[in-house]
Amino acid sequence: MVAECLEALALSPGDTVVDGTVGQGGHLRALLRAVQPGGRAIGCDLDSEALTRVEAWLGEEMSAVTLVQGSFADLAPVVRQQVPGGVQGILLDLGVSRDQLISPRFSFQAGGPLDSRLDPAGAETAADLLAGADEAELTRILRDYGDERFAPRIARGIVAARAQAPLTTTEQLVEVIRRAYPAGARHGRIHIATRTFQALRIAVNRLYEALDTALAELPALLAPGGRLAILTYHSGEDGRVKRAFRALSRAADDGTPAGFSLLTRRPLAPSPDECAANPGARSARLRVLLANPARSAA
Ligand SMILES: C[S@@+](CC[C@H](N)C(=O)[O-])C[C@H]1O[C@@H](n2cnc3c(N)ncnc32)[C@H](O)[C@@H]1O
Repeated sequence: MVAECLEALALSPGDTVVDGTVGQGGHLRALLRAVQPGGRAIGCDLDSEALTRVEAWLGEEMSAVTLVQGSFADLAPVVRQQVPGGVQGILLDLGVSRDQLISPRFSFQAGGPLDSRLDPAGAETAADLLAGADEAELTRILRDYGDERFAPRIARGIVAARAQAPLTTTEQLVEVIRRAYPAGARHGRIHIATRTFQALRIAVNRLYEALDTALAELPALLAPGGRLAILTYHSGEDGRVKRAFRALSRAADDGTPAGFSLLTRRPLAPSPDECAANPGARSARLRVLLANPARSAA
């Protein structure tokens, strides 16, 4: 949804824009071009390998870009130091990039180590998590982060399997999930392991904690009239963004006007053409928040 994000952020030449989830750099390059001449972009990603590729890909355009390896949850001090007056636009495009989806760290179809780290140097892998969490915690992770209806059965299966041998490969975990699934439920629209691996990615990378911190801190980085746009891919993320944006755009009880306005009462979704060309985009939802012109950046 590059065109929708560009329209939502309404950038002008000379603006400064933040892309908190650089990935393969497609959005970053479009945002950067929208602020030329004279503008700058700050890009951030947990994935150092992605940033290295994007740096090479952008070539000379990098002269107007600062790349930061880390979580967008930690961006506030960096942005405040570089742009004290606030930025005109911030984009978060959550989820995984296509490069990551096919990399051995994430792909469960290709087989490989149980990893799921977005930051290749991150401390905890999915294998570590599966070795350390108790059955109740595993059930909670699979249910809350993956909407997995067979979460208790899979958690029980994981605990039984690791009592025999540590779970270290995606093949081992897929087999545990296959056995936990009732035979009649094994051939649905999505692969039976999809929800479990989504849950592990969210838990290993502490994505909800990062999103909650970002929702608390990033709006204050906007200059008056600046916009924050967030693209989510499942209901757990979208619900968090929806609630935070609503709270920020509500007037105080004493009638003091809110510092922000919602530009999307309902989230924007991809066009049918984009869904046909890129089925992974089907679940994307875009919400946009405006820093009211009367407020000043913190
Ligand atoms: C859907 S991809 C972004 C794709 C990107 N917009 C593009 O045009 O290629 C999501 C990216 O967000 C990154 N990411 C996820 N959580 C993050 C976090 N807390 N901090 C920084 N980057 C994060 C992932 O590593 C991944 O590269």
